[in-house]
Amino acid sequence: MTEKAFITTALIYANGPLHLGHIVEQIQADIWVRNKKMQGVDCVFISGDDAHGTPIMLNAAKQDITPEEMVKAIYIEHKNDSKDFLISYDYYGSTHNETSQEIVYDIYAKLKQQGLIDSKNILQAYDETKGMFLPDRFIKGSCPKCGAKEQYGDNCEACGATYSPVDLIDPYSTLSNTKPTTKESEHYFFKLGSMQTQIESWLSSAPIQSAVGNKLQEWLNSSLRDWDISRDAPYFGFKIPETDNKYFYVWLDAPVGYFGILKNYADTANANINFSEYINPNSEIKMYHFIGKDITYFHGLFWPAMLSAAEYKLPESIYAHGFLTVNGKKMSKSKGTFITAREYLDKLSPEYLRYYLATRLADGVDDLDLNWDEFATKINSDLIGKVINIASRTSGFIHKKFNGKLACELDDKDIIATMLKAKDTIIQHYADRQYNLATNKIMQLADKANQYIANKEPWKQIKDPKMHEQVHQVCTTSLNMFKIIITYLAPILPETAKNSMSFLNINILDWQEIDNILLDHEIKPYKHLLARVDQKDIPANNIS
Ligand code: 2FM
Ligand code: ZN
Repeated sequence: MTEKAFITTALIYANGPLHLGHIVEQIQADIWVRNKKMQGVDCVFISGDDAHGTPIMLNAAKQDITPEEMVKAIYIEHKNDSKDFLISYDYYGSTHNETSQEIVYDIYAKLKQQGLIDSKNILQAYDETKGMFLPDRFIKGSCPKCGAKEQYGDNCEACGATYSPVDLIDPYSTLSNTKPTTKESEHYFFKLGSMQTQIESWLSSAPIQSAVGNKLQEWLNSSLRDWDISRDAPYFGFKIPETDNKYFYVWLDAPVGYFGILKNYADTANANINFSEYINPNSEIKMYHFIGKDITYFHGLFWPAMLSAAEYKLPESIYAHGFLTVNGKKMSKSKGTFITAREYLDKLSPEYLRYYLATRLADGVDDLDLNWDEFATKINSDLIGKVINIASRTSGFIHKKFNGKLACELDDKDIIATMLKAKDTIIQHYADRQYNLATNKIMQLADKANQYIANKEPWKQIKDPKMHEQVHQVCTTSLNMFKIIITYLAPILPETAKNSMSFLNINILDWQEIDNILLDHEIKPYKHLLARVDQKDIPANNIS
């Protein structure tokens, strides 16, 4: 039976543009999925927008539109940004639809049946002017520890203290600038602590990164607190059944959205999948979530607990990554170092960033830096200077001297065998998310190929008619090396790989096809495959 996998990236808040931080995760997941697909695994890869919550509701109000209208407009931008970064989602959906709501209700009903939902009255900050409860982020004041002004209600950016908004000195609502009062309200809680054993058993069997596993274990060792899953109206989200004015907290419906979106996809004409097979806890299909390390708690505790209690399928693993810095600094709007996906795409090829990030991405949760100088050097010297060069230096001879046809023999079988020998290692590096190791290995092979061409000097030999057959075989060997190297890079550079295959006049691009040597085979005229990075297009050079 064909192996099947269901892969997600974190759903994006429908509250602003995609930025390069989001793109890191999407590229990381996309490379992984493309490798799996090349191995013949039947992958369903989805993502979408995370449409609910207070910030979205307030942002829409500010623009004088409904949340639905805002969510709709942003959805289109997000979807196009991902597509233009060559992210191969089978479907890009949203959490705001009936399908998602049905699954949320089903899970909630099951949690309730199992006695896992509690209700209790809690005191919360309230904005009398606006007539609404205030999430921590909408309250500011001075830090109770160090006195720093203008700190949020949950933690102090100056001294790092964490506290509750009621502890703030001189608190005010950022919505009305008035002092919040406190008000009592009934909230619903998911009894996370009752699911401790189930979470632990999932954790012990899931192949989880050690840093993530340790963090989860630390949380499990301190006692798990009940999780507040309700919010009072006004709120943009799904109403809680059998209540008048209570809504599910966005973080309850967000991960359920993975299934909602999958079901939306299953319901489309071009999908050929059976949704129930994907959520059945006993099916063989493996589910993987690519996430930022900041949302480990939600994906590693709440989510498996909910799924286990509601008897849905649990993730095979969650793959967390670190944050992106740009030239060593956190992206910041005020400092002009914040780069949206579209700003990047307006200037630069998506494949440049895909490659650069691949050279920096490993399987851990360390932060990674986008250094623009290194970015330009890597693209120009690795991709153009080492890889594309192999084809551009040798294809001309094939067309000018040999009617566009490759020779019947290789000049050097051994060098081709050396290139192919790396296949299993490279596939494994991709599967392990060690793209830095994969690209290193591939560039070593590209160096070897260039050395070979430099030693053979076809441009000199062609002057001697007696050497023509030799040149023919040297160029044939070189173009076969190019085919192997560009196939190795295909998960990272899907477009260039595709264009290279049409230049080589072949259709298939997978890990089996890579072994076929092209001999006595007609190729197409060489067209430029990838341009050099131009320094003037680098965002850092445009920031004064
Ligand atoms: O942290 C975030 O940006 C959330 N929008 C991620 C949600 S992931 C999933 F649970 F939907
Ligand atoms: Zn402080």
